[in-house]
Amino acid sequence: MDGPHRDEGIVDRHAPTRRAVLAGSGSSAALLLLAACGGGAPSGTGDRSGTAGEGAGAVAPGEVLARADDVPVGGALSVTVGGAQLLVTQPEEGTFAAFSAICTHQACTVAPGDGELLCPCHASRYDLATGAVLGGPAPEPLPEVPVTVASGEVTSA
Ligand code: FES
Repeated sequence: MDGPHRDEGIVDRHAPTRRAVLAGSGSSAALLLLAACGGGAPSGTGDRSGTAGEGAGAVAPGEVLARADDVPVGGALSVTVGGAQLLVTQPEEGTFAAFSAICTHQACTVAPGDGELLCPCHASRYDLATGAVLGGPAPEPLPEVPVTVASGEVTSA
């Protein structure tokens, strides 16, 4: 019966070494997390809509955003162009629009929803055709990226 206790004693002797290793890993992980957080998420201060404007503004005119066939009628397609996250929409067949996918509430990434655009963070809803706020806490519409459609491609104007 004393055996298991002695084994635990042996394990304890090795424990500081393991702790030291874990502490080292933990520090590295913490540094990585800090680096990742410092990279950009405006968490906690995201009430401003400047980020959304910057996101849409990063798209130069003449950039191909999507193939028209890839955008569902009555829906949207998420794309990233030039580092900007966008939603290309087709509210009615043959009518296309594009918007920044950065929510004007706290800068989460808005996704295609059921006949609308939906923010997964606090359920703001946006109109497919205009980017207008349909519901939720978003204070402003999604910034629009003007588009043209030619040769089966939706292109920023
Ligand atoms: S970030 Fe809050 S609703 Fe989008």
